[in-house]
Parts: sequence; structure tokens; C-alpha cells
Amino acid sequence: MQHLLSLKDYSKQQIEQILALAKDLKANPAKYADELKGKSVITLFEKPSLRTRVTLDIGINRLGGHAVYLDSQNGAMGSREAVQDFAANLSRWSHAIVARVFDHQTLVEMTKYATVPVINSLCNLYHPCQALADYMTIAEHHDDLSKVHLVYVGDGNNVTNSLLLAGAILGATVTSVCPRGRNVDAQVLKEAEALAAMSGGKVQVTDSLDDVSDIDVLYTDTWVSMGDETPLEQVAEVFMPYQINQAMLDKTGAKQVLHCQPAHRELEITSEVMDGPASFILDQAENRMHVQNAVLLTLINRDMH
Ligand code: CP
Ligand code: NVA
Repeated sequence: MQHLLSLKDYSKQQIEQILALAKDLKANPAKYADELKGKSVITLFEKPSLRTRVTLDIGINRLGGHAVYLDSQNGAMGSREAVQDFAANLSRWSHAIVARVFDHQTLVEMTKYATVPVINSLCNLYHPCQALADYMTIAEHHDDLSKVHLVYVGDGNNVTNSLLLAGAILGATVTSVCPRGRNVDAQVLKEAEALAAMSGGKVQVTDSLDDVSDIDVLYTDTWVSMGDETPLEQVAEVFMPYQINQAMLDKTGAKQVLHCQPAHRELEITSEVMDGPASFILDQAENRMHVQNAVLLTLINRDMH
């Protein structure tokens, strides 16, 4: 049984295969119209979502499958009934469980009792489907990801972790630029460094964009992630120097700007940049659907792919 909890468990070849399948799903959707015929996928959310919820529902429908949406109104996992029982019951009816949870350990627990693939659609530590969509979007404009320098600016979080890990596996150069005390998890950085050493990639962290050069892609995300009740205004002063704005774009010469969304306009990114020619943010949002479908086909129809 193969799950997708973190991309660190995947090889370069496996990630490249998923990205290649996603590219074909995008180019030739009709080819895949019956691939999940008669199959059902649980999409389970402990936290809010727009892109993930909608891309899973519409994406699974495009493959001929059926998505069942569950939120915490039906009982937060572990409170109305144990995570173990959630996973065991859902496995009897469905062919995969895609889950967005507060705590990564909930997903680990699910994999112990699920007899179908469990796919992480965001937790406190990782957002693997997002990173897949992001590298797919970058690859649409760069033939060789090993020549790409992706620079993340803002709050070191679940999205940053997945970008570092996936970039390290794919052989890219990834730099995380965050205020002191807000950079990525030390353990994740160590893992990413080890993966980069094997692939020929490079990962680095700093608190100043002045330390960084030759930037191809600038990326940011919210300064306060779901589950953290800190008001955005409270951290805005610390983070404002990390805002992606036209001056940063001009200074760095970056040609592509990414944001996983939801975005807070005029905080981590200005509208001028978000709506400008360097923004590939809506391509990212579209590509979420294609990479998730590629992951679902890879894990559910393992005999076929
Ligand atoms: N990027 C992303 O995961 O968006 P949602 O939180 O809206 O699903
Ligand atoms: N880091 C953000 C990503 C949202 C898609 C969060 O976890 O809220």
C-alpha cells in the first residue's frame, strides 16, 4: 500500500512520473474520462478550503469517479470516534482517502488502519499536492528543473517544507527567506539537505533577500497559517519587508511569481504583482487538479500506471 503523506517518501523518478501524468491529464483529459469509473474517493477536511475541495470534487468527476465530501460537522476525527475507526470504516466503502488535518500524526494514525491509499491534502507540516502543482507550473516554463532557483519569502510553514523537500528531490535550488525565528523546521531542513546532496540540488535558508541572487521564481504564502489564531495585523510589521511587490520583482529580476492562495492582497503580495504579467498563480490553482488526479490514478490504479 502506498500513501502520500510527504513527498520525502517519494523518489525523483516517482515524482517525475506523477508530473508527467499530470501534464498528460491536462493536455488529453478525454483519454482519462473512465479511469476512476465506479470508484469513490473520500475528501475529508478538518480545516477550510476552496481550491483543494473544488479541484478534488471536479477532478475526480472528470475521471469518472465519485467524491464524498466530509467535514468536521460529521464528527471531528478522534472526538466522535477514534481516527482508527474513521480509517477502517472509510476503507470499506472507498478507494482512497484524501485528508486535510490539523496534526500530521492524525494522517500517520490513519495509514495504520486504512486499507486504501491515504493522501495528505495539507497538515501542519506538509502540503505535498501543492508542491506538486507548483513544480508542474514551474516546469511549464523551464525545461530543466535542476537549473531553476526558487526563492520562498515570508513565513516558513507547511508549504515551504514541501517546496524544499520536493525541490531537493528534483535537483532544484530552493532558498527560504524568512524573518529570524520564522524559518523552516530544522528537522525538515536537515532532511531536505540530505535529499539535495543525493540529487545535486541545493537548499538554503536565510533571513535576508540581500544574501540571494540569480532568482528565477519568487513564491510566498500567508503570514499566518490555518490553526494559528494570531491576528495577521500583529505580525504584519515583522513580515512587511518580505512582501512580494514590484520593487522586489525589479530588484531580483525574477520572471515568475507563485502563491498557493488564499492570498492576503497588500500583505504578503501586492495586487500589482498578483494580477501582473509575472504571476502564474491561477495556473498553480488549475494545476492542483491535474496533479491530484495524477496522484489518485497512480495510487488507486497502481496496476495501470
Ligand atoms: N492552496 C490551497 O490549498 O488552497 P485551499 O486552502 O483553498 O484548498
Ligand atoms: N500555509 C497555509 C496554506 C494554505 C493553503 C495554511 O496552512 O493555512
